[in-house]
Amino acid sequence: MFALRSGLRAVASRSAAVPLSSRAMLSTSLPRFSPVANGTDYTCIQVSTPKDGVRLVQLNRPKALNALNSQLFHELNHAADAADEDPSISAIVVTGSEKAFAAGADIKEMKDKNFSETYKANFLGHWSKLTQVRKPIISAVNGYALGGGCELAMMTDIVLASPTAVFGQPEINLGVIPGAGGTQRLTRAIGKSRTMEIVLTGRNLTADEAEAAGLVSRVVREGSVVDEAVNVASKITKKSQISVQAAKEAVNACTYVCDTN
Ligand code: CAA
Repeated sequence: MFALRSGLRAVASRSAAVPLSSRAMLSTSLPRFSPVANGTDYTCIQVSTPKDGVRLVQLNRPKALNALNSQLFHELNHAADAADEDPSISAIVVTGSEKAFAAGADIKEMKDKNFSETYKANFLGHWSKLTQVRKPIISAVNGYALGGGCELAMMTDIVLASPTAVFGQPEINLGVIPGAGGTQRLTRAIGKSRTMEIVLTGRNLTADEAEAAGLVSRVVREGSVVDEAVNVASKITKKSQISVQAAKEAVNACTYVCDTN
């Protein structure tokens, strides 16, 4: 934790309260991805097919509480695209470990970056590719879903939570603000007042609070959230796939249509 704390101090000490994606940072290099030719090349995720038609993607950086570095997101996008294109797959489940769905963007990767390069290279731009996947994505959240981890859950279509889940946008504690759509998606999910409290104070939500606020679809029995997410995904595989795709598109369209009416 020492390295992280010093990272946090370093980030906080030079931060202005602007998004991580657009704040002044100090380094000169952007991350390089290891090429991913197929599923066997993944280093930050594990991929399986636990039931017919269901692709399970497990974030796999347990020592870093699944902190979301560029390599992980690169692999996640690759796996999601592969599932989207695979006619034998109808729904995707994304999960983390027992302790953490994801504890946020990787602070160690970000702490030395500078604004002009990250802005020019659209550093977090590839995160939102997940929202372009046409098949339904269900997140199964155990433990911490903080910062980018909460934003990742909100990019998915259905969020199921274990009673151990903890949701939050603690970026304000680092002197920055959520940089991957959290300010908009959280507001849409739970409303302005609750979002303001969470984003401005950094207070976390328990699983029950998140359910009551509408951030998660359901809290399920401890230890069962991945199985339950796979079951929900499996139910979806039995429906007309063209209707599922159209329904997802139609629900998502509300985000934009509602804004203009
Ligand atoms: N980035 C990089 N490493 C992280 C991390 C993160 N976001 N969160 C945890 N880790 C690492 C720690 O550095 C530690 O590794 P080392 O032992 O090598 O130092 C390991 O994971 C375990 O972490 P802790 O020892 O801190 O575990 P804990 O149980 O004591 O605390 C925690 C858990 C409360 C989640 C704490 O780790 C924490 O506060 N993490 C940071 C949460 C955060 O601020 N997230 C927002 C990041 S910014 C962001 O996401 C921006 C965005 O909008 C895109």
